[in-house]
Amino acid sequence: MILNLKGRLKLIADKVPKCNVLADIGTDHAYIPIYLVRNGVCKKAIASDIKIGPVKIASNNISLYKLSEKIETRLGNGLDTIEIDEADTIIIAGMGGTLLTELLEANKQKAVNANALVLQPMNDLHVIRKWLYDNAFEIYDEEIVAEGPKMYCVICTKFNGKKKQYTDFELHVGQSLIEKKDPLLASYCKMKVKQIDRVLEQLEDMKENDVLKSQYIRQKKDYINLIEKL
Ligand SMILES: C[S@@+](CC[C@H](N)C(=O)[O-])C[C@H]1O[C@@H](n2cnc3c(N)ncnc32)[C@H](O)[C@@H]1O
Repeated sequence: MILNLKGRLKLIADKVPKCNVLADIGTDHAYIPIYLVRNGVCKKAIASDIKIGPVKIASNNISLYKLSEKIETRLGNGLDTIEIDEADTIIIAGMGGTLLTELLEANKQKAVNANALVLQPMNDLHVIRKWLYDNAFEIYDEEIVAEGPKMYCVICTKFNGKKKQYTDFELHVGQSLIEKKDPLLASYCKMKVKQIDRVLEQLEDMKENDVLKSQYIRQKKDYINLIEKL
């Protein structure tokens, strides 16, 4: 049976390096671990989720692809379900950036010991980038993918013990996206400008939000400056 991934899921899978044991936290359908084990990218995988429904769906899919010997399902919160040093690569994808950050903070040593973390937050990317930089993780690659009108960013990171300097704007737009001039970065920035304009409209009549307004205006200028340089 063929399993083709596309768009967001394919980019996440493409960013996973060859590994022994992959942990996919918040796996839901388990398509990513199934795809990666089938393609020999990882030898074994753990497909973990906090809800029983997704774990059952994952188990069914794993059986369907005859991979029950190689992919184990686990039920529980975040990285609690894996032992320290059990997984050399960890994926956390498709959840909010703040939750994702909390899951890493709750089991920091497991994240520190992994060879690679492939993260795909649905929002609040600045929160996760800040946590990674402040905790001496290196963001060694980032890439944007479009699916219809939506854009997603995949962050590849690992602990290297070196804290990096960053600006507030670089938390919102990853340094590596800027350095490598990601082909979708200009469109991504334009989308952000539109989002800021919508927020500014809502804040327009609220005097007490002057500080917030000026922060958004500053951010909008930074996005426009970056678009002009790309
Ligand atoms: C939108 S799905 C994403 C599925 C898949 N990772 C993807 O990117 O397509 C989010 C999944 O994360 C799970 N989840 C939410 N909070 C979690 C937590 N604290 N620990 C583990 N899984 C969690 C949900 O149950 C759900 O199955």
